[in-house]
Amino acid sequence: MGVSSSQTAAALERTAAIYERVRSVIPAMEWTVFADDVDAILRLKKERKAVILAHNYMRPEIFHGVADMRGDSLALAREAASVDAEVIVMAGVHFMAETAKLLNPSRTVLIPDPQAGCSLAEAVTAEDVRLMRQRYPNTPVVTYVNTSAAVKAESDICCTSGNAKKIVESLGAKQVIMLPDKYLAQNVARETNVKIITWEGRCEVHERFTAADIALFREQNPGIVILAHPECTPEVVAAADYSGSTAGMIDWVGQHKLARAVLLTECSMSDNVAVSYPETSFVRPCQLCPHMKRITLANIRAALETMTHEVTIPDAIIPAARRAVERMIAVK
Ligand code: 13P
Ligand code: SF4
Repeated sequence: MGVSSSQTAAALERTAAIYERVRSVIPAMEWTVFADDVDAILRLKKERKAVILAHNYMRPEIFHGVADMRGDSLALAREAASVDAEVIVMAGVHFMAETAKLLNPSRTVLIPDPQAGCSLAEAVTAEDVRLMRQRYPNTPVVTYVNTSAAVKAESDICCTSGNAKKIVESLGAKQVIMLPDKYLAQNVARETNVKIITWEGRCEVHERFTAADIALFREQNPGIVILAHPECTPEVVAAADYSGSTAGMIDWVGQHKLARAVLLTECSMSDNVAVSYPETSFVRPCQLCPHMKRITLANIRAALETMTHEVTIPDAIIPAARRAVERMIAVK
């Protein structure tokens, strides 16, 4: 059923305060297309007793328009664990929805598009982890949260980009296996004395940035500050001014009141951060994550209308997978 112009006018009026916040990054014409979905999602959240958790890579109309909690993978995991609402809609990728389900199993967890995957999660299987254990006996396995629940279940502990070094060192081991992200593992290895055995996984978005890109940014924008996600190559991280998780990058921009910055990470981050820090001007090399971009206002609305797609995890792997995530959350 189409949306009548009087319905759109009413939705525009009800969402006017939200639009005020994002007007610097969303043209008014585009908001006339979004307003009806935003309005419907706000109503459906109440009807379904639902909350929306949104990763920092969500488009601004989702991130600032309908999300209840926002953050990096670590923050979303922590938030998911304490959600009281009956339904959690994960505006993020599948492994994030699985992590929410592991930490809050009595809630219904929905993902608006079950195909929203991750090149890192695709890079390793539970069988691979078992083989690594055989090859390196008595070596703890630290698994990035960007993995399936089945892989987490084979691991000793999880980590995110926000706590990787701390988690590796918390084990008190001389060497650890860290998978699947080769570059994150190499970036941690540069900062610790623990020997790190890596795996051949890579983020298809962050691997595209190069040290030559950084040189060019500096040449074309004197004084620019460069922030890189630790899924970038070690050469890129070494050439940047700061490296940290998506939340770490946002905090750094805020704390240092930067005049001009570039965030070497997924495209929507700069739009979302620009809303919060209008004094910083961002140079925006646009690298989209095709998996994150599967999540739209339209499929969030459909998820709440039809209560799909519910995320479930086989009973046999839940206890071990949850243990690995909870062990990570417990590290202070
Ligand atoms: P963060 O935990 O830093 O948000 O990273 C998640 C991710 O998928 C980065 O590509
Ligand atoms: Fe996975 Fe990379 Fe997309 Fe993050 S940006 S979800 S690591 S493919």
